Amino acid sequence: MGKEITIQTNANIALIKYWGKRNEELFLPTKSSLSVGLAALTTTTRLTATDSNSDQIFINKEPAKPTTATNIISFLNVIRKNFNLTSRFCIYSENNFPTAAGLASSASGFAAIALGVNQACALNLNVRQLSILARRGSGSACRSVVGGFALWHAGLQPDGQDSYAEQFLPAGHWPTFRVIIAVVSAQEKVTSSRAGMQCTVATSPVYAQWLADSNRRLDVLKRALVEKNFSVTGQVAEADCLGMHQTMHTSRPPLNYWTDTTIAVMQAVKNLRIVLGLECYFTIDAGPNVKILCQENTAPEIARHITAIPGVQQVITSQVAHAPTVTQAPASLSTPTGLGKKPA
Ligand code: PMV
Repeated sequence: MGKEITIQTNANIALIKYWGKRNEELFLPTKSSLSVGLAALTTTTRLTATDSNSDQIFINKEPAKPTTATNIISFLNVIRKNFNLTSRFCIYSENNFPTAAGLASSASGFAAIALGVNQACALNLNVRQLSILARRGSGSACRSVVGGFALWHAGLQPDGQDSYAEQFLPAGHWPTFRVIIAVVSAQEKVTSSRAGMQCTVATSPVYAQWLADSNRRLDVLKRALVEKNFSVTGQVAEADCLGMHQTMHTSRPPLNYWTDTTIAVMQAVKNLRIVLGLECYFTIDAGPNVKILCQENTAPEIARHITAIPGVQQVITSQVAHAPTVTQAPASLSTPTGLGKKPA
């Protein structure tokens, strides 16, 4: 039994989305994407290498459901094969937010496993290599490895060695940036993002147009983030989200992750912005929950309005996440070996 490693990772929300793979096995995307790490959505994972004959996986104090366990064990098998490891792993992962409801629990979860195995088995991978590794668990996980504003380069190489995320800007670059998470449903989604993407890429007649528009928007967003231009950041993120959902809605069969409450929150965001002058923008992943981009000074008032919408179950206001931390047990003697600082 090896030493216990504790990893703290955060979910991320893409401002410029990833939706579609060019290689299913290697999780290579059709385009680059850019996300913001969510400090309030934390996954704490404890991982130990063992010499038992099977992996043991617990999520939120329960044995992982069969599909989740299969995905995690496939990922561990990829790691074992790549690095010639024979160990099995004991993994306890807890989210402080609803799992698999479009709040990107897979991103923070797979990032944690990549970081934990690296530490437990002394693989000595650098951040780029860790991001490449996490990508094999879930595409968006490669962005949770770096924290802050994370840019995932699509890359061109067939082996995926140039498809990784790097921290485009640290969390400290924009301390007043906020994301309000409106939890509309804590239920697990019916169509996985993996299946949804495949269907969209294969059948949506507007997919190619979204790719081209989204690539253009990425350049605009990069500049807006550097300049801390909130209006452009929000406009571009909202446009990219709507474009991605349009590709889903026009797939055969059509794919829809929104509920009536999702639409009510989207409408409320527009009203807050246009009628009340509270500047905010929405973005939504492959699930019903809505993330609202805003700034520190207006966040409490916006959160109050969103909380009052019927059907909204929970509202969480988040700052930008720093990079993950990795520590080795025993806790009292542990030396932080994190990739960055924890949020204050
Ligand atoms: O990495 P996955 O399989 O969780 O896919 C994530 C896809 C979106 O969340 C919809 C967009 C994104 O870029 O995170």
